[in-house]
Amino acid sequence: MSQFDSAALAEPVLGPTETSIGIGMLGFGTVGTGTYRMLRDNREAIRKKAGVDVSLVRVGIRDAAKERAIGRDLLTTDLTAVVDDPRVSIVVELMGGVSPAGELIERALRQGKHVVTANKELLAKSGPRLINLAAREGLDLHFEAAVGGGIPLIQPLRHQLSGNDVLKMMGILNGTTNYVLTRMTDEGLDLGDALREAQSKGYAEADPTADVDGFDAQYKLAILASIAFGKAVPVEGVYREGIQKIARRDIHFAQVLGYKIKLVGVVEALEDGGILARVHPTMLPRNHPLASVDDVYNALWLRGDFVGDVMLSGRGAGADPTGSAVVGDIMDVCRNIRYGGAGNSVPLDEGIATAPIEKCRTRYYVRMVIQDRPKALGCIATVFGNCNVSLAAMEMRGVDSRLGEIVFLTHVSSEASIQRALKAMRNIHIVEQIGNVIRVEH
Ligand code: NAP
Ligand code: HSE
Repeated sequence: MSQFDSAALAEPVLGPTETSIGIGMLGFGTVGTGTYRMLRDNREAIRKKAGVDVSLVRVGIRDAAKERAIGRDLLTTDLTAVVDDPRVSIVVELMGGVSPAGELIERALRQGKHVVTANKELLAKSGPRLINLAAREGLDLHFEAAVGGGIPLIQPLRHQLSGNDVLKMMGILNGTTNYVLTRMTDEGLDLGDALREAQSKGYAEADPTADVDGFDAQYKLAILASIAFGKAVPVEGVYREGIQKIARRDIHFAQVLGYKIKLVGVVEALEDGGILARVHPTMLPRNHPLASVDDVYNALWLRGDFVGDVMLSGRGAGADPTGSAVVGDIMDVCRNIRYGGAGNSVPLDEGIATAPIEKCRTRYYVRMVIQDRPKALGCIATVFGNCNVSLAAMEMRGVDSRLGEIVFLTHVSSEASIQRALKAMRNIHIVEQIGNVIRVEH
């Protein structure tokens, strides 16, 4: 509230003008507010660069009683009225969720209206259908804000990098969990307290389990992989684990061993033409380029066959960076409308085969509580060895006179071997508890 002066509240700042393109916004929460603020504060620069004025003519919300930083006469709870408004040429969907957002976007496209959205869940689940509809109708469907907040990721993948065969991509794609893990690492906060901070800063989803359980990063990885490989990647083809099991013990041991824990998404091209896509907590060596990406920052590293290694980073969530990406897309559509270049959505008709997590080969961190007695270590090492898992490092500390907490770092192993070893370990009486297992990148 404090960031808006009363004059701005009294009347719509972005009224229609003769040479303007009308926007209908669905949702006026964190991202809607950031988008509005940028359209208002940078109006003149935007007009010059886009070649037209951008007019916000209608805004759809759910709760009419909520106080807003925008004139009441723009607001409506009738969302179809926003889409159907004849002054609206671009529908900007910033409400989230699959329904009714999906139906409203489809309605807009069927009426010949361009669409800008930040809705990764919808795009991951119904993206190919909506993108293909936009392509058939000769319309723009832009979604830069859906992945990586303010970082340009979608357009570089669609355009500048699109001639490359992507060999591997790896990214920190969720601002909330990166903020939470940073606060847990740097300040020793509990996950719950750190999450509350992230929510208060506008980083988290309406239901923050989407962040913590890894769904949000899973959606984003499916979208990025679809664009990078030019084929639809089904969201269920992306393996997912969240950060809910990361304990302060793991953060402590990671530090002792020279690593940081991040929620990372990885996509690797496989020799059979398929991909392995996975999102899970990952231990990164402290000198890894992604290890220094902290707080709400996101980053995507990729290796292309011609370009080599590329890394893009910036603020991955929050009103202003995400609003910046939405405004960039709106301006792109405005230029396309004005100069006749609209409708260059690239269809994603074909799907790509996604491998199960058992195909993963990496290093592993295993933390367990064992009985502190003679031959215990040898027994555990034998189980690992029998399952073809070779050990690279170990740390141990006593829990009490009877128990010890022990951490192993393995050499590169197959997921199947690790799972076999863990299954065998659960049946040995000296193993009291398997605390956590985290994949390790190098
Ligand atoms: P938010 O703060 O919860 O705002 C959602 C807005 O949509 C609110 O104005 C809400 O109305 C409205 N809305 C939701 N469901 C509605 C319904 N069924 N009918 C009418 N209005 C409805 O969410 P947000 O953080 O801005 O996120 C919006 C979208 O951007 C989501 O897809 C999210 O995943 C994506 N995104 C968010 C961020 C971020 O940093 N927050 C970054 C990138 C992408 P009321 O105001 O009346 O409740
Ligand atoms: N909740 C999301 C995140 C918003 O924390 O990354 C940005 O997509």
